[in-house]
Amino acid sequence: MPLLERASNQGKDMVNRSVISRRKFIQTCTATGLAGLSAPIVWPQSQVPASKLAGGTGSLFSNWNPLRRMPAVMPDKLVLHAAISEVDVGAGTKSTAWLLNESLPSPLIRTRRGERFRVNLQNSLPDALILHWHGLTPPETMDGHPRLAIPKGEKYEYDFVVENRASTYWYHSHSHHRVGKHAYLGIAGMLIVDDDESDALDLPTGLREIPLILQDRRVDAAGAIIPYSDPDTMEGLIGNEPFGNGVHRPQLEVETAIYRFRILNGSNARIFRLARNDNKDLIIIGNDAGFLERPVRTDFIDLSPGERIDLLIDLRDASVGDKVLLGSRAFIISNSLARDDQIHRQGHPMDLMQLVVKRRVRDHSEIPDRLPAPRGPDPADAVRERSFIFTSDRDSQTRTMMAHQINGRSYRMGDIDERVPFGQTEIWTFDNKRNFSHPVHLHATHFRVLSRTGGRNQVMPWEQGLKDTVLVHPEEKVRVAVRFDAHPGLFLLHCHNLEHEDSGMMLNIMVG
Ligand code: C2O
Ligand code: CU
Ligand code: CU
Repeated sequence: MPLLERASNQGKDMVNRSVISRRKFIQTCTATGLAGLSAPIVWPQSQVPASKLAGGTGSLFSNWNPLRRMPAVMPDKLVLHAAISEVDVGAGTKSTAWLLNESLPSPLIRTRRGERFRVNLQNSLPDALILHWHGLTPPETMDGHPRLAIPKGEKYEYDFVVENRASTYWYHSHSHHRVGKHAYLGIAGMLIVDDDESDALDLPTGLREIPLILQDRRVDAAGAIIPYSDPDTMEGLIGNEPFGNGVHRPQLEVETAIYRFRILNGSNARIFRLARNDNKDLIIIGNDAGFLERPVRTDFIDLSPGERIDLLIDLRDASVGDKVLLGSRAFIISNSLARDDQIHRQGHPMDLMQLVVKRRVRDHSEIPDRLPAPRGPDPADAVRERSFIFTSDRDSQTRTMMAHQINGRSYRMGDIDERVPFGQTEIWTFDNKRNFSHPVHLHATHFRVLSRTGGRNQVMPWEQGLKDTVLVHPEEKVRVAVRFDAHPGLFLLHCHNLEHEDSGMMLNIMVG
């Protein structure tokens, strides 16, 4: 059955499920008293042994499919045409998807700092569409604000200069109320920026540089993608199966060498606790907006939707025939409603990708000990503080669905929620007062994470450097130093759990 018919047939069902969800939410909230809980905080140690990682997911599938290597295209008068198509998600299984240039994921765009970025978006989808370049800081009309969405049959011209540092970025639909559906169905891709500093580093390239978009999706017993039909506005859409670069259960053949993995969590709502099943270290060299000062070794990394991590994976001591699994370890979020040990729950373990060691080679490359890190705003220069309080309540219109608010407001496209002077350093606090986790994302700039109180009570090792998305768990307060110095105009602050965003957890920020 075509996707759209199936989706609308399930419309009724959706409302019923939301009622149940809300009831469960209210019960749980009453039982726990909502905010101000004092359950013991157990982060960040993983509570489930890593041995559960392999085969611990209860996946219906045992096959692995070759990872799609995404050919890079330059944003040099690039046409991106959005349309409904069919796509092979691995092993010949066809799914209906919403695609740009018939590609799942959307084409990998690679460019350089200082280059012109010219893209022509053409919309043949039944929904209005606009693309946002997540992590880049272009002028306001180029940023993909939802008010700019174009209907079917129209075009949107992007033309700006890339001002951002070498890093791994993302692009995706930013249509009002439709981001979750569009990203899930395929309107999302990776964007890589290079610059002279990154060229000067001797990092793995070519076949040893792996751009990797990790996503979870809902998959049926045949391995086909289940259409997006049930916007769970509580937890967001949590899938049961892993995808890498649009391939279900991806596998990559590797040599005994150091690999660079540029990983983006492109999921709607699932947080990954990335780890190797052999428990060897992941070596972090960068995150959202560029390199860290020096590599950081860690055995796991929490990556929430919208966050990127630039990793070295050292396979020099592996043997031919070894299979190294990259997976998401089990975890529990204190004071979260997401506690059930089920595959559709946040924190359930999941194998994400298999690396099969095929060839022994001598790799003499070295892991650098210094990296060109960005400076970013200095909290000592801050002239003002603001706080943003993240809450959840029933939707004021339907009364039956969950909605999420920032500072008591649900997003309204025509409102200006916050006015922030251009070029001024401020300290912002993201204060999560309810039992859901929020990856908080800011457009038009990057921020430095200063502190976290409550919950994990620390800035995590993968949160150094400059970020545009930071995970805020229940009862956490995260302070960041921020300064808008790219462009004045109307931009957004929102939760990157796409169902939270679509159900109102977003504000308009007027800079200037
Ligand atoms: Cu990744 Cu407002 O977006
Ligand atoms: Cu963004
Ligand atoms: Cu959220």
